[in-house]
Amino acid sequence: MSDIRSSDPDRNLAFELVRVTESAALASGRFMGRNEKNSSDQAAVQAMRLMLNTIEMNGTVIIGEGEKDDAPMLFNGEIVGTGSAPDIDIAVDPIDGTRLLALGRANALSTVAASDSGSMFNPGPFVYMNKIAVGPEAKNSIDVEAPVEDNLSNVAKSKGCDVDDLTVVVLDRHRHASLIADLRKTGARIRLITDGDVAGAVMTAWPGSGIDVLMGIGGTPEGVLAACALRCMGGEIQGKLWPRNDNEILRGDRMGYDFNSVLRMDDLVSSENCFFAATGITDGELVSGVKYFGGGARTHSLAMRSRSGTVREVISQHRWDKLMRFSQIMYDQE
Ligand code: FBP
Repeated sequence: MSDIRSSDPDRNLAFELVRVTESAALASGRFMGRNEKNSSDQAAVQAMRLMLNTIEMNGTVIIGEGEKDDAPMLFNGEIVGTGSAPDIDIAVDPIDGTRLLALGRANALSTVAASDSGSMFNPGPFVYMNKIAVGPEAKNSIDVEAPVEDNLSNVAKSKGCDVDDLTVVVLDRHRHASLIADLRKTGARIRLITDGDVAGAVMTAWPGSGIDVLMGIGGTPEGVLAACALRCMGGEIQGKLWPRNDNEILRGDRMGYDFNSVLRMDDLVSSENCFFAATGITDGELVSGVKYFGGGARTHSLAMRSRSGTVREVISQHRWDKLMRFSQIMYDQE
């Protein structure tokens, strides 16, 4: 193996992935507040696919879009990119928080991740996963199987604070009733979100976000995307598959999944050569949403690479008069 320290600077795919999420955000941001989930997803998926196909890579979509809610698809197993080397695994969530966008609420993001071929966890039939995620300061202090109070006291110790200084982000769902009750007993502060646990996980590692831990059951695909981001940011996520019914258990069994084992960082994304990009669609704590103005729009994105640990914020100005001379995506109209 080559010595990373002495190798020349090489290609950072995150720059190219940002164009993909920018494009999906620009195309879908028009639908803010219009309660048209499928149309917004369709616009984001179409834009994302077009841009992914311009990237020089032989990409395979491991985490696609649309399985859970019959939304427009970027298929699992779909081949994207120009077809030339390198071989890359791709995870997409063209809109994390379609309902947030449909209702004009905060924190809808477009996200995509990439890593070396064969390194990304394939969720198979499992739609949900129980997750715990933290930023770099609390890395190695979590255990998805441990009681809530143990996790929080270990995280607090690692962060040099008390449990009641911690803020935990949780999806506001009936299935979390006992988790929320347990959290309340610890004295920690709780941030209940209606959707968007990729943003929730990234916030645990984002300086100044005020979020320390993400806990609870959310999408497995979102868990893999969050693992890619946290690998870049030096944080940690652990998960356990959470089958919804016997059919998922049966299918998972047949495919050789062990849903009793804990999925750690190396299980979720095993390569250090991993990239993550996200663009805000609606305004949020991590990034601003798309701002349209006469003749163009402005986007705010994150671009990360795990090997270097560099996290970039990218603010872009898009001009329809130039873009529309060659773009296949009609960004300038609904
Ligand atoms: P999408 O908008 O991409 O469908 O996901 C939104 C989301 O809130 C995710 O962030 C989360 O992981 C998942 O849905 C939770 O699923 P459910 O809404 O079924 O509880």
